[in-house]
Parts: sequence; structure tokens; C-alpha cells
Amino acid sequence: ANNSGSNKHLTEKFTRLPHLAGTEQNLKYAEQIKKEWQEFGLDSVEMVPYDVLLSYPNKTQPNYISIVDHLGNEVFNTSLAEPVPEGYEGVSNIVPPYSAFSAKGQPEGDLVYVNYGRTEDFFQLEREMKINVTGKIVIVRYGKIFRGNKVKNAMLAGAKGIIMFSDPADYWATGVQVDPYPDGWNLPGGGAQRGNVLNLNGAGDPLTPGYPAKEYTYRFDLVEGVGLPKIPVHPIGFHDAIRLLENMGGQIPPNSWKGALNVSYRIGPGFTDDFKSQKVRMNIHTNNQVTRIYNVIGRIRGSLEPDRYVILGGHRDAWVFGGIDPMSGAAVVHETVRSAGRLLSKGWRPRRTIIFASWDAEEFGLLGSTEWAEDNAKLLQERAVAYINADSAIEGMYTLRVDCTPSLHTLVYDITKQIASPEEGEEGVSLYESWHKRDNWTNDRNAPRISKLGSGSDFEAYFIRLGIASGRARYTKNKKTEKYSSYPVYHSVYETFEIVDKFYDASFKRLRAVAQVRGALIFHLACSELLPLDVMEYADSLRKYAQSIAQLAQRHQDEMETYMVSFDSLFSAGENFTVAAKGFHERLQTVNRLRVMNDQLMYLERAFIDPLGLPGRPFYRHVIFAPSSHNKYAGESFPGIYDALFDIENSADPEKSWDEVKRQISIAAFTVHAAAMTLTPPEVK
Ligand SMILES: *[C@@H]1O[C@H](CO)[C@@H](O)[C@H](O)[C@H]1NC(C)=O
Ligand SMILES: *[C@@H]1O[C@H](CO)[C@@H](O)[C@H](O)[C@H]1NC(C)=O
Ligand SMILES: *[C@@H]1O[C@H](CO)[C@@H](O)[C@H](O)[C@H]1NC(C)=O
Ligand SMILES: *[C@@H]1O[C@H](CO)[C@@H](O)[C@H](O)[C@H]1NC(C)=O
Ligand SMILES: *[C@@H]1O[C@H](CO)[C@@H](O)[C@H](O)[C@H]1NC(C)=O
Ligand SMILES: *[C@@H]1O[C@H](CO)[C@@H](O)[C@H](O)[C@H]1NC(C)=O
Ligand SMILES: [Zn+2]
Repeated sequence: ANNSGSNKHLTEKFTRLPHLAGTEQNLKYAEQIKKEWQEFGLDSVEMVPYDVLLSYPNKTQPNYISIVDHLGNEVFNTSLAEPVPEGYEGVSNIVPPYSAFSAKGQPEGDLVYVNYGRTEDFFQLEREMKINVTGKIVIVRYGKIFRGNKVKNAMLAGAKGIIMFSDPADYWATGVQVDPYPDGWNLPGGGAQRGNVLNLNGAGDPLTPGYPAKEYTYRFDLVEGVGLPKIPVHPIGFHDAIRLLENMGGQIPPNSWKGALNVSYRIGPGFTDDFKSQKVRMNIHTNNQVTRIYNVIGRIRGSLEPDRYVILGGHRDAWVFGGIDPMSGAAVVHETVRSAGRLLSKGWRPRRTIIFASWDAEEFGLLGSTEWAEDNAKLLQERAVAYINADSAIEGMYTLRVDCTPSLHTLVYDITKQIASPEEGEEGVSLYESWHKRDNWTNDRNAPRISKLGSGSDFEAYFIRLGIASGRARYTKNKKTEKYSSYPVYHSVYETFEIVDKFYDASFKRLRAVAQVRGALIFHLACSELLPLDVMEYADSLRKYAQSIAQLAQRHQDEMETYMVSFDSLFSAGENFTVAAKGFHERLQTVNRLRVMNDQLMYLERAFIDPLGLPGRPFYRHVIFAPSSHNKYAGESFPGIYDALFDIENSADPEKSWDEVKRQISIAAFTVHAAAMTLTPPEVK
């Protein structure tokens, strides 16, 4: 019962003012949401505060980067703010572009350009170009991977600062003529991407890893905090980037390192001979600060199984206006609450309890959602059936994009067959067909593509740490033709209501389709007698993942023989899982013990959790899925084995490295087999 008019109205209502986490305006929106959810008729709505580490620029001492001459004069300074879009001129409290949690400092030195700052870019720089960035300031383009991974790579390489810029090659539409905002949806040259640069690996609040950040909670001091970068970091737009890059000297890079600016993209270090005496200085004065944040939690008590929880959560905090991220998603949650309230008033009640969450401080490292998961971990691991995420509903105009646990594949397909395509000229066509036509899975199956969950939004603690079946859905771009990373104006001041209204979804039909998918997922998970989780899909996926990780290892066939590495145990576990899943599936046809089998379905995801976590990443505990160690946004399957194999050809101690591969294979095999055992009939033991 979602209505595109309401989504439009809501997106507009919550995007007029900046509402950064920890600010008064974001608290006001929280109070307003609480009040409206109560009016919509939820059984309970509460505000849940935590005191977490946030990070803000110093209002009187701005952050910027300069070129300094031999006398130490700052002869060029990067801009202190983005040009404010029309209609928002009088708005105060627009935080200037910054990298949240950057170290303070004023490092000065020569620049080295390292493409996207990926692991492979640093390998190429160090191993092929033979450039050492120790004591240098690194400049990289945004895109391809999570910015925190770029910062980590720069730190590991010895850089004393890192500058990130948005290149039109990555933040402009390709193939189609699009103007910069406000005439189109491309990023203007003065626009820059804000964002946190933490490497939390699922820890939540950096000062209270593992525990909710309550008033009485013990806090580490800043030096011990999890994931805080030790070097200054700053983002700039491409107008400023041109000035830093245009006089760089050193090697000419390969074409894959060149963006779309009219500069040579030389690697450095430093400037050409004509400008040799000039250096680059970063002036960063950003402060870390423990600040109160507020989640809004609403509930509808389940009629028959009140102790089983289905969660719909999305964040409310935005870098500035949040026209796309997150309010296009928050509007969907709000609208779903309104629809559920209407049904409640007509006497309806879901079988299971539904929990709605408006998370705070997602932009600062998924803090609100992770603290609440920590606070409620004991309840959630006993009672949570599924978590559906509701961040930005739209990041492109092309088709649906779904990332979810394998057991939700079937439900997603069933639901999308019942929803109408939002595209012009597709009357009578289902969302499933419209999506299939545009994004066919092809190699794996004849169905629309569904991807693995990575991270980068609030489902992380629920899926990767607690092992709750999770999924997300949004409208996306065409990855084949639109090569830019994220959407052009991502995390800039130009993410306004108008950019959605004028360009992304004028009719708000795409937003409605996404709302229908998210709403239907919650409805079916909360109301179906038998939980709509498909164990056969998990079995299929596990077999595919085992095949593909074994193939990756086969590139080192000689070493595998030398060190006697075998994937047989993992294949055996995969077969055992398939047998158990088939048996389970057959027993479902004659089910008379609904609650027992529903519990087996619910706890299956939990069975993949290893309480010890992945090596060096104690809060990433899912043995089948984790965010990639090289890009937090991407999901990796069998991450323990994958990481053990990574770059193993350059290992200083191959025997030790292959031992770790063997250890990881055995952990994966054991976990998959143990998960299979949870699907066998409980009485036969
Ligand atoms: C902000 O900068 C001013 C100098 O302009 C300084 O006096 C003040 O202590 C700084 N604030 C913080 C919180 O560091
Ligand atoms: C850059 O900013 C510094 C500090 O405000 C100032 O002294 C300097 O003159 C500025 N340089 C230019 C070129 O504007
Ligand atoms: C890079 O330079 C630093 C300092 O000059 C040195 O300590 C380090 O060993 C060098 N790294 C490599 C890989 O050569
Ligand atoms: C690119 O830069 C060069 C030198 O800076 C200049 O001569 C040329 O006109 C520029 N080209 C374009 C297309 O702007
Ligand atoms: C998807 O790919 C498969 C295999 O290549 C093909 O048989 C099928 O027709 C494709 N479906 C669509 C809707 O494009
Ligand atoms: C798979 O099941 C068989 C038969 O119960 C057992 O012998 C084997 O060890 C299991 N595989 C794994 C990896 O546990
Ligand atoms: Zn978001």
C-alpha cells in the first residue's frame, strides 16, 4: 500500500535542512519521526541514545590544502566550501567537505599520485614503478573501493598524508551528455565527497568495541580507539585537483591510471623542475568528540510469535541534506510504518514482531545500528528472523539491485514478480521481468542477478557479526555503460530533494517500486506461517563459492602439491549441506512441527558464525561472507580462505602461508558441515 505521492512529500519534508549526526537538527528529526510513528499507531516507539565518537571540522580553523613556495608562503589554497546550490543560500550548518576521523596535522611534502589507492595500485607503484611513498603525501582518485581502505593502504605504505579527489572519469556520466548540477545530475567541479575514513571492521563506536556506548561504558582513549587513521586525510573536488596535479613531475603512468582531467597524471614524487621548490601542505584541524546520538525504535507486537523479530532499519543522519542518502530510503521506512499503522487500525496484526529502526550516525561508521545490535545482541541472536536494510532507495535510473543472503533469493524473486515495473512503456510488465531484461545473472542461472552482501550500510552488524539473514534492495545504474563509481553527487551538498525530483525519479515510481520490495519482504517474513527462507538456495551458493575459491587456489597448483593443500573437506561439507538441505526441504512438504522447522530456518544463518571471528577482524564472524579486506563495500565469500591466499606468491614464508590456507579451509569445512547438522531432524541424534 505504498504511495509515490507520500514518498515524495516525505523526502521533501526531511531534506530542507542539514541533519548531520550529533547535531540538534538530527535530534529534531528523530523527535518528529518518533511522534509520527506513535500517531501512525505502532505499539511502542522509543528513542535510544548512545554516546559515540564523532568527528567535526573546527568551525574557526578551516581545513584546506595549499601549495607552498620556497619561502613557505601558501601560493594556492583549496576551497573551504562547495558553492551552495540555488534555493539553499541562506542555510547555515552546512558542514564543509572533510574526512571524518582524519588525524590532525600539517604535513608538508611532495605528492605521489597512486590512481585509486587500491592494494593493486600500491603494489604496482612499489613493485613496478619502484616508488617509495614514505614521508610523501599521497593523492588518489575516489572510486572503486571504500575510502577507508585507501587511507589504510596509504598509511601502510608510509605516507604522511592522503588527499582524495573526485575525477570526472569516475563521477560523471559516460555515454550520455549530462550537465553538472543544477542543470543535470553530474558532479560540479567545486563539489567534493565527504565521508568517514575509519577501518573499523565492524567494531561500531571506536572507543567501545563489542559493547554498547552507554553512559557507564568504559571508553578507550583516542590512541587505543579502533580504526582511527594516524595521518591527515582530506577530500577535494576536481577544480582544486587540477591545480595540485597539473605541475606534477615524474613518470607518466599507464593509461588505466589516467582520469578525465586535462593533466598528464604524472606519478611524482613532487612537481616538475620548474616548480621543484614548491611543496604541498595539508592543514587539518578536525576534532574527534564523544557525542550523543539517537536511534528511533518502533515496534508492532506479533500476534502468534511475539518472540520472533523481523527488522526494517535505515539511517536518518545525512552529510548535508541527504536528498538521496539516506532520505530516499528513510522515506520508505516512514511510509511502511504508516501503511502498517493503517492495517493495525483495521484489526490486522502480523504473526511475528516487527521492529522499525531509524538509525543515527551511519555516516560515521554504522555507529547507531552497531551500538543497538551490541546492546540487544543476546535477544537478537535468540529471536531475530531477518534484517532488511533501508538506506538510499535510488542510486541510478536503470533497474533494481538486490544484495542478500542466499536463503532470501527465492522470496525476492517471488515478490518482484508481483510488483509492476516502474519504467515508462512497461505497462503490464513485472519488476522481475524488467529487472531480468536489464541485469541477467547469465553464468549462474537464467534469473535477475542478486549479489553478495558486502558492507557500507547498517545491515553489517546484523549479518556479519550476529548471523541474521539480511538483505537490501535499491534502484541502480547500468554497470555496463555507466562506469562512474557510486552516483556523481554522492555525499556532496548537491544531494538535494530537487536532484531526485528533477532527474532520478520525477514520478517517484522507482522509489515506490523499491518501497514495495522492502515492504513486501518485511510483510512476508513477519506474516508467513512457514518462514520464507530457502535452504536449497544456500546449498547452491555454498557449492558455487567452494568451486570458485578452489579455482582461485588452483592457480598455485605446484605449491598446493608441495604443501599438500586440499579442498576435499570443503567439498565434502558442501555435499553434506546439500544432502541435509534436501532432506529438510522434503520434510517441509509434510510439516507438522512448524515452530521447530521455523527455528531451524531462522538459526541456519547463525550457524555460520564463528565466535572467534576472522583473523584480525574479531567482529567479522560470518565464515561464508565478509566485507573484502581490500574494499569494505564488496562482499567476499569464504573470506578466511580468500585472505590467506591473497598475494601468496609474494609471501616471505610460503610454508607458513600455506599452513594458514589449510587452517582456513578446515575452519570453513567444519562450519559448513556443522551448519548442515542444524538442518537434520532434531530427534535423530
Ligand atoms: C579551534 O580552533 C581555534 C583556533 O582558531 C582554537 O582556539 C580552538 O581550540 C579549536 N577548537 C578545538 C575544539 O580544537
Ligand atoms: C591561503 O590561506 C592562508 C591562510 O589563510 C593565507 O595566508 C594565504 O594568503 C592564502 N593564499 C592564497 C593564495 O589565497
Ligand atoms: C622506503 O623508505 C624508507 C625511509 O626512507 C625506508 O625506511 C624503507 O625501508 C623504504 N621502503 C622500501 C620498500 O624500500
Ligand atoms: C589542456 O591543457 C593544455 C596545457 O595546460 C592547454 O594548452 C590545452 O588547451 C588544454 N586543453 C583543453 C581541452 O582544455
Ligand atoms: C539470460 O541469459 C541466459 C543464458 O545466457 C539466456 O538463456 C536468457 O535468455 C537470458 N534471459 C534474459 C531475460 O535476457
Ligand atoms: C560429511 O559427512 C560424512 C558422513 O557423515 C562425514 O564422514 C564427513 O566427515 C562429513 N564432512 C565434513 C567436512 O565434516
Ligand atoms: Zn546512507
